[in-house]
Amino acid sequence: MPASQPIAVFDSGLGGLTVLRALRERLPQENYFYFADTRFLPYGDKPEVFLRERGVLIAEALARQGAKAMVIACNTATAAAAEAIRAATHLPVVALEPGVKPAAQLTKNGVVGVLATTRTLHSDRFQRLVGNHANHVRVLAQACPGLADTIEHEGADSPAVGKLLDAYIAPLAAAGADVVVLGCTHYPWVAEAIARRMPAGTVLLDTGEAVARQTERLLSAAGLLGGGHGQLTLATSGAPQQVKTTIDRLFAQTMHVEHWEP
Ligand code: DGL
Repeated sequence: MPASQPIAVFDSGLGGLTVLRALRERLPQENYFYFADTRFLPYGDKPEVFLRERGVLIAEALARQGAKAMVIACNTATAAAAEAIRAATHLPVVALEPGVKPAAQLTKNGVVGVLATTRTLHSDRFQRLVGNHANHVRVLAQACPGLADTIEHEGADSPAVGKLLDAYIAPLAAAGADVVVLGCTHYPWVAEAIARRMPAGTVLLDTGEAVARQTERLLSAAGLLGGGHGQLTLATSGAPQQVKTTIDRLFAQTMHVEHWEP
């Protein structure tokens, strides 16, 4: 496997770009293939069995295409499919999960909020995470149905997103959470809007940097670090034109987006 092959990064949509940003900051020399499974956005309301099968299909297609490693840049896909994906591929796989463990260590008043999709919060994996690392604190798990897809379709600054945030953040503010975990990779796009709705000094935690560090460790251990030229290919299972406007805005430049079917 040549080290110049791309690292594949995938999400249900454009949330994983927040992880890609951290990856490119830490490992700028790598080539990347970013896949947004927009045709099936949102993942957060889909049955677990669907997400497992879809995740395995995507992983197999990415391996066939020559990816040297895979980053599941989606908490929901990780919760439903990480184990099945690892079993289905020989590639190094980096998965991410809500930062409950660091949040439980950071909180001063013992109240932690977790924002994530319904599917993530209902998963066994999330229950285990809380049971193993956050038993001593109060964890307020706030599901945010509609938030990821509204961010994508209406824009992070839209009134529709503002309305959803008003509803989802109010319980965390009322309970006095001093740490809020962004447990969905779409939510860092609205981090400032979340912070505005919480008391000053509330810590927001996202996992992009930790994922980038873990990717570096894994590639290094496999002898696959470096070798690229910082190339980026962006692909979607939906209509490229539909995601392009948002992508251009996020990158602050005109980007090429191709259609890709796993
Ligand atoms: N960005 C995804 C996550 O991290 C899921 C958003 C969705 O498709 O519901 O959970």
